This record gives sequence, structure tokens and C-alpha cells, in this order.
Amino acid sequence: MFELLKEQPKDKILALVQTFREDKRPGKIDLGVGVYKDAEGRTPIMRAVKKAEQLWWNAEETKAYVGLAGDPAFSDAMIDLVLGDAVPRDNVAAVATPGGTGAVRQAFELIQMANPNARVFVSDPTWPNHLSILKHLGMEVVLYRYFDSESGSVDFNGMLEDLGGMRPGDVALLHGCCHNPTGANLTMPEWDAVIALLNDKGAVPMIDIAYQGFGEGLEADAAGTRAVVKGCPEVLIAASCSKNFGIYRERTGILMAVHHDAARKALTQANLAHLNRQNYSFPPDHGARLVTLVLGDATLRADWEAELEAVRQGMLDLRTQLASELQRLSGSDRFGFVAQHRGMFSRLGLSPEKVEELRRDHAIYMIGDSRINIAGLNAQTVPILAKAIVEVGA
Ligand code: LMR
Repeated sequence: MFELLKEQPKDKILALVQTFREDKRPGKIDLGVGVYKDAEGRTPIMRAVKKAEQLWWNAEETKAYVGLAGDPAFSDAMIDLVLGDAVPRDNVAAVATPGGTGAVRQAFELIQMANPNARVFVSDPTWPNHLSILKHLGMEVVLYRYFDSESGSVDFNGMLEDLGGMRPGDVALLHGCCHNPTGANLTMPEWDAVIALLNDKGAVPMIDIAYQGFGEGLEADAAGTRAVVKGCPEVLIAASCSKNFGIYRERTGILMAVHHDAARKALTQANLAHLNRQNYSFPPDHGARLVTLVLGDATLRADWEAELEAVRQGMLDLRTQLASELQRLSGSDRFGFVAQHRGMFSRLGLSPEKVEELRRDHAIYMIGDSRINIAGLNAQTVPILAKAIVEVGA
């Protein structure tokens, strides 16, 4: 049987992790996978998370199953974090999932169960795994223009024009903040225009929010998502705790389904629980427990917020430093957008050949589409990257 299996396309982000590991050159620089790293190149366990683990180690009395939807306290805490008071809790069905990817996968499956004819409109470019999962599920994908590589900013006219082709029941996948891979984000008036268009078309928004707190701050990063939830009758939201709580390997995420008619909640909730049961029964608890403890304790929460804010500021400083170093060395403002982008990523707009040259001749690793992880840099490596970019003539 196994001989019937076919080769699967490699995930370009994970393939790069492997190539980087195998590179023996000292001083190699990893700007690939979206994992936060401090100035020493470590991915630390956040202080509040470590403390919550200690508390939980003492308090935990059983490893028995929780519930198909996970602990409702986790859902409450996350709904509050992401949606604030944009919508009453009674209007939100939610299940814990294994990471943000789990939430994205469950969301696509829910769409497919509800409306097998739905087409999913996806930004061009987007996180490659969005496309991969949609293909795996056999769902129809339509790309919408999103990024203008020349200016490094959102091609908003192109986006509106392409979303204008949506039909009732189609789904628009939007990045809540810190667009992956480009780093270019919608302004609030642009969110409002998208909301009006989706409502006009009878289309359903789905938001993937995996970097809340990495862009403009916890509240500001959720503003687009909250506007959509207020403005559209039905919304799906896949949220990840991997990055903002730094608990990548614990696989912690949540899928929320919001309906303006609270009477729809029970049916949606039952379908979400059913989906969890079919795919893995109970979602992992440990990471969700830590998040619940941190968000529910004023001291832990304040410390988490402070550490997250320091992470965010550090990435902003690196952005400013990189943009000005590139400006100084190249004598042009071409890369000024690096300072305007937000979140972990920026797409630099280099050709695949230049990206390859940077890897081969300078041991600098970025994704083939020239996405860099800003957090892979530090004050010492920013000038090295800037010099290399100018040297390859990018
Ligand atoms: C990324 O885009 O690098 C992250 O979301 C990690 C991943 O799973 O791809």
C-alpha cells in the first residue's frame, strides 16, 4: 500500500529550517521560520508562562480529559483578548485547537460542511500553509491582489477589485494583523471598506490572527478583527497563542465562530465540537491552561503584557535600524517600507536569484519570496544584512 503514496510538495518554510541547520558556516543568519528570537538568538519561555507552569505543576490533580471544546475558561479568556467587547459572549461559538494551524484547518472544514460550494478568497501572497490546507481539502481557492512589491505596501485598489468578484457564501480569508508574509497591513478605513464590500456581496470573512501584540500592540492589533465582528453578520476567527505567548510546541489555538443572531450559537458550537471529535477528539490542554492562568491573574497578565511589549518594541527598533542602514548604504529610500511594516515579517521584494545569492555567498537565510523574520536579526547582524543586500545588487 505505501508504495502507492506520492511525493508531497515540501513546505518552503520548514525546508529552509532544515537547510539552515545543515549549514556549518559560522555567523550564518536565520531569517526564516516565524519564531521569535532575542538578541542572543534564543526563543525564551516568557516569564509569566514559566510562572504559570510552576503554579500548575503544583495545582494539577488529574490528567483526565477536559471537554471536546477544551476548557470554557480558555475560550472565555481568548474571546476577551481577541474580541474585547465587540460582541456579546453569547454570540460566539468556540473550540480550542492544536495551534493556530488547527484552528485554520477546522475553520476550512466547517466552511466545507456548511457550504461545499464556497470559494475561499486568499491574499496573494499568503502563508503558504493556507493554500496547502485548502488544496488538501479540495476547496476552491481564488487569489486576491494584496501587495504591491514596488512600494512594499498594500495594493488596496487591487484587493477591492478582486474581492468584488465574490459571490454570496464565498469566504474572504484576511490576516487580522501583521500580514504573513508581507508585513503590510490594512488601515482602519481600509478595514471598513472591506467590511462594506463583503456585506454587499454576502460574503463571509474569516480572520487568521496569529501575531496579536507583535504589531501596534495587543488592542490595536485586534482593532480590524473587532470591526469585522461588529460589522459583519457571520465571522470565523482562527487565533494562535504560539507567538504572543511563545508556546509554539504546546500547540495552542482557538477557533471562534461569531453570529449576530445568538440563537445560531448552539448549532455552530455542536458542529465545532463534532469536528474536534472527528479530527483528534480532545484538543491539547497544557498550553491552553497556561494561557488561561496568565490571562486570569492580574500580576501574571501585567508581566506577560510587559514582556510582549518589550518584544514588540525590540522588533520595531530592528526595523528602524535596518531601514536606515539600507538607506545609508544604498543611498535610496527603496527599502523605507521596512520601517512601516508591522509584525515579525517583511517581504523585501528581492528576486529568488538574489535570495539564493544571499544564502550561498553570505549565509543569510530568508524565504524564497524574500520574506524576512525581523526577530532573526540583532543590532550586530542588521548592518551585515544591509551590506549583503546592497552587495548582491538587490
Ligand atoms: C511562519 O510563517 O514561519 C510560521 O507561521 C511558522 C509556520 O508554521 O510556518
